[in-house]
Amino acid sequence: MESVIEIRDLFHAYGAGKKKWEALRGITLTVKKGGIFGFLGPNGAGKTTTIKLLLGILTPQIGTLSVFGGIPAIPRTRMKIGYMPEIADYYRYLTPGELLYMYGDIFGIDRKILTGRINELLEMVGISESAGRQMRTFSRGMKQKVSFAQALINDPDLLILDEPTGGLDPIARKKMREVMISLRDKNKTVFFSSHELSEVELVSDRVAILNKGRVLKEGLLSGFLSAKGEKQTLEGYFLEIIEGSEKG
Ligand SMILES: Nc1ncnc2c1ncn2[C@@H]1O[C@H](COP(=O)(O)OP(=O)(O)OP(=O)(O)O)[C@@H](O)[C@H]1O
Ligand SMILES: [Mg+2]
Repeated sequence: MESVIEIRDLFHAYGAGKKKWEALRGITLTVKKGGIFGFLGPNGAGKTTTIKLLLGILTPQIGTLSVFGGIPAIPRTRMKIGYMPEIADYYRYLTPGELLYMYGDIFGIDRKILTGRINELLEMVGISESAGRQMRTFSRGMKQKVSFAQALINDPDLLILDEPTGGLDPIARKKMREVMISLRDKNKTVFFSSHELSEVELVSDRVAILNKGRVLKEGLLSGFLSAKGEKQTLEGYFLEIIEGSEKG
């Protein structure tokens, strides 16, 4: 199977000198095409840093990384990626429709196609009724919904979601799961970070567990859930792995 993401021995430090902080300490990871990959780890583990490197927002210092076989920073690669950031903080004085037009234009999507797609996305995330309101009047969950729609505007082959379900109601979460699954059905790839392990358990094919800038485990979710012969929850497995690694 073709790989979409290839990360090899990736290190990343913020700052320099005494203030230097090693956020990633040698990450190696492959994400194959056509699945849902859960990227897990405690606060500060390095998930968002890895995602920013995948998007070309940060540049690799040591190690290599490729997305669709290329450097993430180039437009040809980025055109195929949809990204929902950790914090949905968009232009406050735009309406969701205006924001989606702006992103659609950046991707060079034909206006005729774009209008239909925007209406579909607003409907799909359940924000149609508020489509004419400025986003400064939105609740946290409403902004998350717009952010999710934004990530889908270019019909991406790779959807990267950083902590997407925070603040979303159960209906919106279900919708999000359905979208992730429908992308997988179309042989597209979803890579998402999350602390909501019950959500992760419902959709992921594979997961990686990160701590302190290193990958502790990577593999099939089903394998981890039956690791000890008996069925366990992902949360149980996660706590065991993280607490075990903290002990030494
Ligand atoms: N801009 C920055 N400057 C300095 N250090 C940073 C910066 N961004 C992140 N870090 C540090 O890098 C480490 C990894 O942060 P990162 O945001 O990647 O974690 P995360 O796994 O996404 O955590 P969370 O689950 O809380 O979102 C943390 O120790 C953090 O303090
Ligand atoms: Mg993060």
